[in-house]
Amino acid sequence: MGTKITGVGVATPEHVVTNDDLAQIMDTTDEWIIKRTGVRQRHYVAAGQGSSDLAIEACQAALSDANLDAEDIDLLLTATMTPDEFAPGIAPTVQHGLGLGTIGAFDIRQQCSGFLYALDAADAAIATGRASTVLVVGAEAHAGYLPFGDSWRILRGEIDGPPSAADYEATNAARGYGVLFGDGAGAFVVQASDDSPGVLSSSLHTDGAYADLIRVRAAGFKSQPWLDAAQIEAGLHHPTFSGLELFRQASIRMPESVRLVAEQAGVSVDDIDVVVAHQANERILDAVRKEMGVDTQVLPSNIATYGNTTAATIPIMFGELWASGRIEPGSLVCFTAFGAGAHWGALLYRHG
Ligand code: UT7
Repeated sequence: MGTKITGVGVATPEHVVTNDDLAQIMDTTDEWIIKRTGVRQRHYVAAGQGSSDLAIEACQAALSDANLDAEDIDLLLTATMTPDEFAPGIAPTVQHGLGLGTIGAFDIRQQCSGFLYALDAADAAIATGRASTVLVVGAEAHAGYLPFGDSWRILRGEIDGPPSAADYEATNAARGYGVLFGDGAGAFVVQASDDSPGVLSSSLHTDGAYADLIRVRAAGFKSQPWLDAAQIEAGLHHPTFSGLELFRQASIRMPESVRLVAEQAGVSVDDIDVVVAHQANERILDAVRKEMGVDTQVLPSNIATYGNTTAATIPIMFGELWASGRIEPGSLVCFTAFGAGAHWGALLYRHG
């Protein structure tokens, strides 16, 4: 008995923001962003649209792709760093929105590695007989994180620029990461299958010594009260980001993990048909390709179109490959990610 991906769905919000659009609200250029990150545009949620809305849309597309109905699903895993609200996370909202009855549903909070962890958990649930058909979704609405103030209204075409001096200053202070992220969701239907070898090996890692690489300090229950004006005044609700060290760690950990799972499965790295890697920066992907000696055909990217969609990058990237017919019976696919935590790892999958 193996695990088989039988349906894939992707949802991206309508609002597209180009690098030139961002250059209206902060001191940046299209040239800098493309050269340093590979991003050309990203999608942002509309005001009032949350990660659960995108997750529901992606799950519906995956269900339809698998020719299944809501009642066929017996477990739901939702990976997100940007839940609609602090508690209870998005799993109950997505479950109810999809009409999944009272099946178990839970959030996974492993940021950029969230989908990888969720896929591993889905496989484990199937392997142990606890579930036979699992919906796994990664969904993010980062827009609320980005300190663009009223400049959001400029980006949405509701008011004309230029931004106020205060908004410009706040946006500019975040330009290092503010140009990287985008919103979106991707979902898999994963089923127990007799004709699929499925997951051959998986290796998940965490090193809390690197927790400071990306951190959002507020709101949190080590503070009393857990959220107050002083925290907001101090900007603790915005991410702190050590770009260079993240870059370095991601470039080392992803190829290392791919090699590890290949070794565990007794296959050569050269046998891998496609590496679906977390899309954080095109230059990181270039470093991973170089280390592994593979090209863009084996390790593709779509960061130019979507930016870094955190838990959604892997299923969105896989969704493109799936739709284009790249994933065939027998295809050997390696999923790999690195991100905040630090969490990272890889999972090797043979499609049935
Ligand atoms: O998904 C989770 C994992 N995330 C990652 O792995 C992200 C990894 N890190 C990165 O992708 C890159 O480190 C960044 C894209 C975040 C930053 O690129 P960088 O090449 O490391 O730039 P930097 O932060 O070292 O900044 C270089 C220069 C600085 O100017 P000075 O001090 O040299 O004068 C920055 O102020 O570039 C400046 N800069 C910008 N200039 C124009 C930073 N952001 C921008 C910008 N536009 N948006």
